[in-house]
Amino acid sequence: MDTKADALIVAAGKGERSGLNIPKQFYEIKGKPVLFYTIEAFCRCSTIDNIVIVLPAEGFEHYSEYMQNVISEQLNVSEKQIVYVAGGSTRMQSVYNGIVKLSQFSKNSVVCIHDGVRPFVAQEIITASAECATKYGAALTAVQMTDTVKSVENGIVTATLDRNSIYAAQTPQAFNVALIKSAYEKAFRSGMQFTDDCSVAEYSGIAVHIVKGSVKNKKLTLHEDFEELL
Ligand code: CTP
Ligand code: MG
Repeated sequence: MDTKADALIVAAGKGERSGLNIPKQFYEIKGKPVLFYTIEAFCRCSTIDNIVIVLPAEGFEHYSEYMQNVISEQLNVSEKQIVYVAGGSTRMQSVYNGIVKLSQFSKNSVVCIHDGVRPFVAQEIITASAECATKYGAALTAVQMTDTVKSVENGIVTATLDRNSIYAAQTPQAFNVALIKSAYEKAFRSGMQFTDDCSVAEYSGIAVHIVKGSVKNKKLTLHEDFEELL
């Protein structure tokens, strides 16, 4: 199957839990921002056509120029179109801004939505998520839990969950563009808040199919995630 899809990389957050003094997606590893490595993975993936990158609205000019410079110095991306868009105050708004932009210029029917702070994503996972969404409409990259999982209230265990049916959600989360766009519009109309795209799809009753993720595909979130990189 010669699947083609676009990428939507969200990097408009503040990274508050990281405790860094800059938004974590711009934290530099070996002289290049975390977001660069994420973009690089999508640039090198033959399944991916256009790439939309969502950056903070505050400082948008500065950040887009910064990323453009790093990319033109480091990557040969002549065959891919990279477009920058300003994000919003929630991840949902940032994703939606990106989807609107994408649907204005691209004819591809599938989008792989990815966190800008998951730089270690493998190309095979990107392709598998695009293929799954092409086939079924909605795909979630996820890993089955290896630890036993507990439900806890006020510091006391209330239940032990069935590990076999528990998965940790990662990105990319890939969708038919029209399907996820209308699911987002429905979520906004009802005032619902979700932290990932599949939750938005699930709320619209869309069946989400699982693609096998990897523990390596980590989201850099806490300060200790960055300490481990040094
Ligand atoms: N994101 C975004 N726009 C927002 C919030 C988040 O584009 N308004 C992006 C982040 O930049 C990140 C991804 O969504 O790449 C996953 O979110 P998360 O890990 O929660 O990042 P932050 O919101 O930046 O971090 P925190 O919640 O610790 O402040
Ligand atoms: Mg957040």
